[in-house]
Amino acid sequence: MEKLLSIISREIGDAFEACGYERELGRVTVSNRPDLCEHQCNGAMAGAKKYHKAPFMIADEVAEKLQSSKVVKDVASVKPGFLNFNLDNEYLASYINQMKTSKKHGIELSAPEKIVIDYGGPNVAKPLHVGHLRSAIIGESVKRILRYAGNEVIGDAHLGDWGLQMGLIITELKERKPDLVYFDHEYTGEYPKEAPFTISELEEIYPCASGKAKVDEEFAKRAHDATVMLQNKDRGYTAIWNHILKVSIEDLQKNYSKLDVHFDLWKKESDAQPYIPDMVQMLKDKGLAYISNGALVVDVAKPEDTKEVPPCIILKSDGASLYQTTDLATIVEREKLFKPNRIIYVVDKRQEMHFTQVFRVSRLAELVPEDTKLQFLGFGTMNGKDGKPFKTRQGGVMRLEHLIRDINDAVYDKIMASRDEDEETARENAKIIGLSAIKYGDLSNQASKDYVFDVDRFTSFEGNTGPYILYTIVRIKSILKKFGQEIPTAITVPDGAAQKALMLDMTRFADVFAQASAEYAPHKLCAYIYDLANDFNRFYHETKILAEEDQDKKKGYIALISYCKDILETCIELLGFSAPEKM
Ligand code: ARG
Repeated sequence: MEKLLSIISREIGDAFEACGYERELGRVTVSNRPDLCEHQCNGAMAGAKKYHKAPFMIADEVAEKLQSSKVVKDVASVKPGFLNFNLDNEYLASYINQMKTSKKHGIELSAPEKIVIDYGGPNVAKPLHVGHLRSAIIGESVKRILRYAGNEVIGDAHLGDWGLQMGLIITELKERKPDLVYFDHEYTGEYPKEAPFTISELEEIYPCASGKAKVDEEFAKRAHDATVMLQNKDRGYTAIWNHILKVSIEDLQKNYSKLDVHFDLWKKESDAQPYIPDMVQMLKDKGLAYISNGALVVDVAKPEDTKEVPPCIILKSDGASLYQTTDLATIVEREKLFKPNRIIYVVDKRQEMHFTQVFRVSRLAELVPEDTKLQFLGFGTMNGKDGKPFKTRQGGVMRLEHLIRDINDAVYDKIMASRDEDEETARENAKIIGLSAIKYGDLSNQASKDYVFDVDRFTSFEGNTGPYILYTIVRIKSILKKFGQEIPTAITVPDGAAQKALMLDMTRFADVFAQASAEYAPHKLCAYIYDLANDFNRFYHETKILAEEDQDKKKGYIALISYCKDILETCIELLGFSAPEKM
């Protein structure tokens, strides 16, 4: 559907043209003085010079022409030459009704692209911590937005399963249970199906081993050797590694599904390893990679760089590959499997240099076609109230599970404090509302910025929070339920300022969505639904909806708020959470 602002601009442009001026002067903006008018056009000011006329004379003529317009009304020419006006109420109602019957609220669908989005990025055998939370929340929302826009989007968790952490775990396991068959080099039989550890043991083994490696050089060396042996496909180690993967992935899936985060692919860093040898050879053949201090590197600095971009190391002097090597090989793999138009990486912004290097090598080596976009969506840190990265009260790394539990408890207490609710329902609702608190708290900030995670503020039912948005949706649901009849379809002409303001904001959906999708900016959807929820609540407080005696009016109100609920629900779905029935 054509955007309302562009329809109005055309209407005003027509009037300029009919008066003998160029139509481009008719560009309209939303008024910055809503107390005076809804929209304005400053074209007469711009045209004054060109037409050697006082701006107000031009504005007067155009205003006169617009008196009979069906799109705008109350057109006033204001000195020195502004055009102020409102949208015609009938026109607004017909526009919203058209939007309501259009697919996806009338958004413009662009040519669909194939997009890989790399997000989540958890590491196996390490518990999920809050650093992975932002990637999951932002990535999930961007994925949903791009999909809604009509693209084919593949979300990949890109599991970290290939570093020293694997050698550490294997080494520690060997110390604890040296008799396991996996460590018997003579053993040629099949390995047990059952893992020799549970997830809780695994999660305890890793920090223990990593602590040891820091103080015990000999242990660290063994862990390094175990990593190399695993990477060289030692049979027993590979079997353990497979157990680690299986146990970890099951646990990760459970945690992500609590967050309503769903990946299409669970590819791993190790999946890209087979692509490394050919890729390295190609970098050499193309004359891009050369030996420097024993390592194989590619120069990626550009003359226009304002800060130093060091050469990208492809292989260390001992021949080992690195994080960069894996990411490059993953690009080769993705190109082979999917031929995506875009690959988007939702990763901590502190990894920006890594991606700058990786993208530049990809371009130099032409790993993907020239018009394939490689984009880094870097996010800031989630801080505690002290302004430092969020920690547990004891100062340790906060596990995601615990953070979710804390939020849910806070919401549960609020529910129980405000009314009589049976415990089970309150617990269920606390989960739904808690998720909105976490996600909205995160997504309402521009992704690249750091933000303060504030349990009290995020779980408040008032103010710019997830629970407030849900509360508004639930309020509408409850009115609709009390109405008790089939929801009328036709939205009628607004009869008050609050109703009109609500309707005007509803028409902005397509525009806001277009920005959120072009800029990967879920925070724009958050700002929008906060406005919309405020508009609705103002309308609700000023209007007797169910008690309205004029039946036609009442039906119009119901149709309107029901559609308002649809838009709000579409938006929260795009943000990655949902509303309960009651609150
Ligand atoms: N596993 C990495 C970490 O925990 C994040 C992976 C991000 N994605 C990528 N393609 N490098 O830091």
